[in-house]
Amino acid sequence: MRVLCFGSLNIDYTYSVPHFVARGETLSASARHIFCGGKGLNQSVALARAGLPVSLAGSIGEDGCFLLQALAGSGVDTSHVRVLPDVPTGHAIIQNDAGGDNCILVFGGANHHTDLAQAREVLACFGEGDVLCLQNEINALGDIIRLAKARGMRVVLTPAPMSQEIFSLPLELIDQLFCNEVEAGVLLRGEMDVLADPPAAAQALRARYGFGAVALTLGAGGSVYADGEQTLRQAACPAEVVDTTGAGDTFAGFFLAAKLEGKTPQEALLLGSAAASIAISRPGASPSIPTRAEVEAALR
Ligand code: RIB
Repeated sequence: MRVLCFGSLNIDYTYSVPHFVARGETLSASARHIFCGGKGLNQSVALARAGLPVSLAGSIGEDGCFLLQALAGSGVDTSHVRVLPDVPTGHAIIQNDAGGDNCILVFGGANHHTDLAQAREVLACFGEGDVLCLQNEINALGDIIRLAKARGMRVVLTPAPMSQEIFSLPLELIDQLFCNEVEAGVLLRGEMDVLADPPAAAQALRARYGFGAVALTLGAGGSVYADGEQTLRQAACPAEVVDTTGAGDTFAGFFLAAKLEGKTPQEALLLGSAAASIAISRPGASPSIPTRAEVEAALR
């Protein structure tokens, strides 16, 4: 069984601000850091640091080659990442406020240059029983999902950042969904108050779209898992919040790695929660993702 992330690679420009800039306001940032990010890159790093061999497919421009070095340093196979001439690497402008919260503006750049030929070429290297992880930061997701399912792959989707295009995807082909309460609310078309009853919301998502399993993250409210047999809850692990960027990606990578190793869904929720709590206590997206050893030490 092999794991492929087909997703975004971003250069994250993270600004430390006292509060999020308001309409018409000009605000001074006290610091700026440049981090490796993008939901595809972050989830690949989380899977690799959780101990699973993982390949990342995607596209960058020549300005993003340092992302490949960082990925290789975390043990991610980058042989399916294309470097495109004359196209900028995707980037994100991230405001990180005094409470550790963030707000993010994403520019797709090379992430929006996926084509069918690339998708066919990459997926030809994977097959029956392999796992494909997707997020909503690249184009051609519908084609990628259909091609992967035709090859017998299991498909995992994080519909973030949420957009109306999600509804045009073949969601009935998704085996495992990761989402937060905002994404769950949109997928449920505002018909349910997700926070009023998260387990019911997770089951409602399964019933509506036919997802095999749903993992719903609720920030400080912990997480919920629902499949055809059970609905489980996990409290968030305590943490001093520095930067929440990439917490969802960290949770998804560690949860999935644990599940693919044969751990129970409850064990996977605990590992994902513990990893995310370490990630939010440190700055940056991918640099904040802990190793498996750090997470297990925190759980002892
Ligand atoms: O999920 C966090 C990521 O969202 C950041 O790394 C940023 O690049 C945006 O894609």
